[in-house]
Amino acid sequence: MTDSSEHEAKLTQTLERLHAADDLDTLEAIRVEALGKQGWLNALMKTLGKMSPEERQTEGPRLQGMRARVADAIEDRKAVLEAAALEAKLATEILDLTLPAPQAPQGSVHPVSQVMDEIAEIFADLGFAVATGPEIEDEWHNFSALNMAETHPARAEHDTFYFHDRDADDHRMLLRTHTSPVQIRTMKGLSANKGEPVRIIAPGRVYRSDSDATHTPMFHQVEGLAIDRDIHLGHLKWTLETFFKALFERDDIVLRLRPSYFPFTEPSVEFDVGYSNEGGRRVVGGHGDAEGHDWMELGGSGMVNRRVLEHAGYDPDEWQGFAFGLGIDRLAMLKYGMNDLRAFFDGDGRWLSHYGFSPFDQPTLSGGVGARA
Ligand code: PHE
Repeated sequence: MTDSSEHEAKLTQTLERLHAADDLDTLEAIRVEALGKQGWLNALMKTLGKMSPEERQTEGPRLQGMRARVADAIEDRKAVLEAAALEAKLATEILDLTLPAPQAPQGSVHPVSQVMDEIAEIFADLGFAVATGPEIEDEWHNFSALNMAETHPARAEHDTFYFHDRDADDHRMLLRTHTSPVQIRTMKGLSANKGEPVRIIAPGRVYRSDSDATHTPMFHQVEGLAIDRDIHLGHLKWTLETFFKALFERDDIVLRLRPSYFPFTEPSVEFDVGYSNEGGRRVVGGHGDAEGHDWMELGGSGMVNRRVLEHAGYDPDEWQGFAFGLGIDRLAMLKYGMNDLRAFFDGDGRWLSHYGFSPFDQPTLSGGVGARA
């Protein structure tokens, strides 16, 4: 028997065994026997190195061909066995698509965040953009630029948290006590080109060293600012009234403006809305002087003081406007019937899952800014 017929016989036998292999382990064993390090076909391949060039020219392709046939046969059989294994698995496994899917744990949106989104949505419709400023402020932006000089008594009323550090201009650093410094930052940002009309709101956190059932050391305000050449107090009243009507989704909101004092506005007014008590709950709406009604203060406002405009780089003989500030937490409590402010910031998961909102409950004017989760 010649070498090559011996090889043919061995090859045929290997191919037959491969074809008959009925699991992947057997297949692998046959592969190792032929093509493994010690495999017979591998050994034959190694003899090529010792052959004369002429011999190698005929033996090389022949042996390569044998190896290719073995490799192909292994691949083919492997595909057949794997398909069969999958079939068997599918036949025993049952997938019931009617079973409820396991519920993934879902967070909720804090009522303050929800109300902030509602506020931004309403003011966006009135043409106001959202502006932001840092919570760590310097005393110039928080006080001086707002016409509260170092000796101004209003500074003391703010119960300010100060840092030891000072900024490059030697101003003391502090946690902002109100969102009003965003007025200055916004106007300064625009005054480089001699001023432009402004319509912004600035929602965010503010800090005062104060703590009881209705005060927390951190709380939320939203500032509003409208600057133009002909803005007057009437625009302020209309804007606030329109805002409250949209927020509380009621047409019978009555706004009362009371003369007041803020260093950064002149004249200054505080605004109240009428409300009634229904089953121990304050419900906004109606005239505050009507039977069973009263007034609730919601914020401060006024026409921007000339000195503030000057500090921010606006010419007060050309520009004027209104500003207001109101407490967001207060609005959230009123709108969604929560009565303890401290619970807002306790981080109790049970409170949040009760009062929180679904992340999909996006406030829109058309869909109702107050859709309840
Ligand atoms: N910054 C004031 C406060 O926190 C509110 C306010 C803002 C008043 C803007 C007038 C104008 O009490």
